[in-house]
Amino acid sequence: MISDIKRKKYMKFIIETYGCQMNVADSELIVSILNNAGLTHTENIDDAQIIIFNTCSVRENAEKRVIGRITSEVSRKSHQNNLLVGIVGCMAQRLGEELKKINKKIDFVVGVDQYSLLPEIIEDCLNNNDFISKTTLNQAEIYNDLYPTRSNPLNAFITIMRGCNNFCTYCIVPFTRGRERSRPIKEILSEIELAGQNKSFEVTLLGQNVNSYSFENNDFPDLLQKANEIDSIRRIRFVTSHPKDLSDKLIETMATYEKVCEHIHLPLQSGNNEILNKMNRKYTAEHYLNLINKLRKAMPDIAITTDVIAGFPSETEEQYLDTLNIMKEIQFDFAYMFKYSERTGTKAADFEDSIPETTRLYRLQNLIDQQTEITTAKYKKKIGSIQEVYVECKSKRNSNEMSGKTRDFKITVFDGNESLINQFVKVKIVDAVGWTLKGIKN
Ligand code: SAH
Ligand code: SF4
Ligand code: F3S
Repeated sequence: MISDIKRKKYMKFIIETYGCQMNVADSELIVSILNNAGLTHTENIDDAQIIIFNTCSVRENAEKRVIGRITSEVSRKSHQNNLLVGIVGCMAQRLGEELKKINKKIDFVVGVDQYSLLPEIIEDCLNNNDFISKTTLNQAEIYNDLYPTRSNPLNAFITIMRGCNNFCTYCIVPFTRGRERSRPIKEILSEIELAGQNKSFEVTLLGQNVNSYSFENNDFPDLLQKANEIDSIRRIRFVTSHPKDLSDKLIETMATYEKVCEHIHLPLQSGNNEILNKMNRKYTAEHYLNLINKLRKAMPDIAITTDVIAGFPSETEEQYLDTLNIMKEIQFDFAYMFKYSERTGTKAADFEDSIPETTRLYRLQNLIDQQTEITTAKYKKKIGSIQEVYVECKSKRNSNEMSGKTRDFKITVFDGNESLINQFVKVKIVDAVGWTLKGIKN
């Protein structure tokens, strides 16, 4: 079958990716799987004979957006013979064959643990013109021995674990991604080394909760320590950390090992204990504050970012104010803020929920307004400091400026030319405009 595909070398595919970094990393795997089968990746949808949407189910809006995109692109079929349209990722996993009802022109639906079958599935679709859906979750699938085709040549996303066992009551991820499993440490370390040899000097280690990484007596701090020893890379980042599993050992490791960047994404979700309990988050606001204190004590300049949800079922005005207040107290560098979105099949979908949509929106807007001020102030505070910037590209606004990121994950632009791309440059910060730092080469 694969050899049949090889004869179809002219076939080009495009992948449009939605959702979190996990999906970005999975799309990079899919590119490798299809490349290995003899197909060709394109970035231009007009050139593609196969269009794949890698989808996200985390909130209703995420799904609506992609359904809109699918509807608009399947219309190409009326003038493009043999065009295949496939859906992969979390929505494929969640809805399976039902997606065919949403749009009958979809050719295949493939869940998150079945990507290795994609070449065969595509071949079958081409030969038989039948709709195919493969969405069995497979705990054993960790896509070892497959080197991703990186979409960002400078920062390599490296999946260290798949799935999630936490079952936060609002969240669909444990249903779409299956049970948590860690990749072998040796595989991860060699992937990091190779990424560095390919000139990705920064790596980001990915998992829904990297703090519970565990492989043959190695925990996540052990993995960081070992990654720190790899000469080919300069920076290590990771997402996401669950507050219930953030250990003192991890804080100490972050503070000690120089390649581990001073940034942590630590989703708070709510500042109220009763809501945290209903969310099944397994920590209290006090525990969270204590973690923030420990992190800042160990690394005074650490950037802390978070996720919060406004209007969880039954959240009262006082409970929402607890979130607003704790966010003011903590002063996050940045926050992703969402209004609660009910997801069928989750526990919270069965909770009594009488919060009007307008209330949810108003709470969300207040959180956003407050955080915007805090983020602006945080960025302004950097003025006068000297930062190491990993230069990524030309600035979009000004072609005489280059753009990159500081160790604490802030976009920084400064006068310079393209020869600096992929270099680490010391930059003195002279201004902060919105959420971009401006600097001059030091
Ligand atoms: N594993 C990560 C990220 C999961 S999804 C973690 O534990 O933090 C990213 C964010 O989406 C979550 O942190 C949460 O804030 C938000 N989210 C998840 N489900 C949601 C829902 N049903 N409604 C609104 N926001 C949600
Ligand atoms: Fe969802 Fe919670 Fe798992 Fe994060 S830890 S993916 S929020 S269930
Ligand atoms: Fe979305 Fe799936 Fe990631 S639901 S947030 S793409 S794990």
